[in-house]
Amino acid sequence: MAGIGILGFGSYVPSRVMTNDDWAELLDTDDEWITSRSGIKERRFADDSESTLDLAAAAAEQAISDAGLTADDLDEIIVATDTPEVYTPDTAAHLQHRLGAGEVTAFDLGGSGCAGFVLALDIAKTRVQATPKKVLVVGVELISRLMDWTDRSTAVLFGDGAGAVVIGEGDLVKAELLSFDAGTDGQYSDILGLETGGTRRPFSLEEAQKDGHHEIAMNGREVFRQAVRRMAASSEIVLERAGRRKDEVALVIPHQANLRIIDAVRHKLGLDEDLVYVNVDRYGNTGSATVPLAMSEAHHEGRIKPGDLVVLTAFGAGFHWSSAVLQF
Ligand code: ACO
Repeated sequence: MAGIGILGFGSYVPSRVMTNDDWAELLDTDDEWITSRSGIKERRFADDSESTLDLAAAAAEQAISDAGLTADDLDEIIVATDTPEVYTPDTAAHLQHRLGAGEVTAFDLGGSGCAGFVLALDIAKTRVQATPKKVLVVGVELISRLMDWTDRSTAVLFGDGAGAVVIGEGDLVKAELLSFDAGTDGQYSDILGLETGGTRRPFSLEEAQKDGHHEIAMNGREVFRQAVRRMAASSEIVLERAGRRKDEVALVIPHQANLRIIDAVRHKLGLDEDLVYVNVDRYGNTGSATVPLAMSEAHHEGRIKPGDLVVLTAFGAGFHWSSAVLQF
């Protein structure tokens, strides 16, 4: 396959399973509420010995090996995450060292929440266009360690995980990146976020005492509305940019935040259920990892076949959105 695209896929989820019933033992919630509102049945949580870097490295190693490469072959590393290994330096620096890659350009894309990975794919493509190279792109999140375990309205929605791809060009491309769309509407920056840690609300003893560093602020209903509107519109835009029609699409892989959001996007696009990939029931919302994790699973399960046209679409805090069309 000619063009620029994905050479290898990888993913990793921690082995510890946390079911809705497990949550019901800790919080005033139950399986019925969580399932009916979100479609989530269980999620994976990292154990105490694992960090963001461990999750990222496991997914990255699989993607590099799936591409038939070694870490030495990488020319650039981009990590999309809002739950980095440490505050600074970025997770990409730690990952470069862990993988034993060369002294390559490496940087994090943080702050765009769950929209980060698809945006990173767009950046990776332009980097390969400018200078032929191989770029590792990782989406990773270890949300369980930074969320408020006593807040039932947010905690039950999230999970930990990682997904990765290697982007390059030439005969070994398994999925060509055809088109992209991304956008931002900053007037909604307060409907989803975590304020503590920035200059507006720095870390302090007072913040620590009231667990401010765990306070994920979310206006669930507004997030829902914006997510459906933006993912549906953005999917239409990328298809138009690729010069392809909706009836040619073999699979849509949306950000896995919530089954009701996914269903609403599907209805807006007028697609049958079997054309939309869902694994939010097993992993919950793993932030910037949901799209690469789902894509990697769908590819390894044989759900995506050579010749398939696939749409990726995501939304995240900001409010940001990003979509892509891939030709497998
Ligand atoms: N168990 C039981 N009850 C709960 C729980 C829970 N885990 N969480 C909240 N409730 C209660 C609330 O306290 C509230 O009770 P009240 O009415 O007595 O005050 C009630 O349930 C709210 O219920 P609904 O209004 O029916 O909730 P809604 O249908 O709006 O669903 C949800 C809430 C699931 C958060 C929904 O708004 C949603 O999916 N929003 C999008 C969330 C999302 O995907 N965020 C993305 C995260 S980050 C990202 O992906 C970029």
